[in-house]
Amino acid sequence: MAMTIRQVGPCFAGEVDGIDLMQPLSREDAAAIHAGMDQYAVLVFREQALEDGQQMAFTQSLGGIEHAIGTSLRGPNENRLPTTFADVSNLDKENKPFAREDRRRLFAIGNQLWHSDSSFKETPAKYSLLNAHAIPSKGGNTEFADMRAAYDALDDETKARAEGQICEHSQVYSRGKIGFTDFTDEERARFAPVRQVLLRTHPVTGRKSLYLSSHAGSIVGWPVPEASIFLRDLAEHATQREFVYAHEWRVGDLVIWDNRQTMHRARPFPAEEPRDMRRTTLAGDGPTVP
Ligand code: OGA
Ligand code: MN
Repeated sequence: MAMTIRQVGPCFAGEVDGIDLMQPLSREDAAAIHAGMDQYAVLVFREQALEDGQQMAFTQSLGGIEHAIGTSLRGPNENRLPTTFADVSNLDKENKPFAREDRRRLFAIGNQLWHSDSSFKETPAKYSLLNAHAIPSKGGNTEFADMRAAYDALDDETKARAEGQICEHSQVYSRGKIGFTDFTDEERARFAPVRQVLLRTHPVTGRKSLYLSSHAGSIVGWPVPEASIFLRDLAEHATQREFVYAHEWRVGDLVIWDNRQTMHRARPFPAEEPRDMRRTTLAGDGPTVP
């Protein structure tokens, strides 16, 4: 059976059928997935139930991976997963949910703000691949916003205002927005801001998109409050329901998104319930600012 894609979101996001990700990926299927990502920006593979090794093999058959080193508040001996994975769960090394007040949990709650993965790194992420191993009894959806459709729908004056702008991104900015400021000096140095363009052009389709993220805290050359309002207005525009697909997880689902063309956020869920989500990430081509 050949791979098929059925659109499930308002203007993007497709659900893929007719492929078993446990099998080695053929060149044709890899090409079809990349083409699907170019078009839909989010692809859903239902109930594939990949183990870590299978997820990694599938990820590497699509490109070179980004490592997750020093991007969370977990110490080097507190990792549940190897650094080839981003541990997006709420679980400690013993697979127990973090206590409500645990600063690792409170930092990770920042994923509930709209963002694009690794926009706080000089070379930000290309695709993210998120695999659900355990899901809570309620809540915990992941929402995606189509930043191409959002760009297209801007008026000409706003497009012109955004053109050529450069933003500064840091996890200190995103966490600051939810009142998490309790960083050590070492963490502040590790999370030093990086620059990203505000508008991106997709290398294959040529479509333009807004490159927004909760990590964006300023626009180079702008007064901070004015930049904050502009970025907030853009994000509010871009995350209207007409641009959003909400994914309701089933155990074993794998969802891939293109961070260059979308934003995403997790939704709240009961703190005491395990939510075991494991992410592999494809590295971007290079910095967005020359
Ligand atoms: C991520 C992320 C959202 C979620 O994996 O990068 O933001 O719903 N995940 O867990
Ligand atoms: Mn994320």
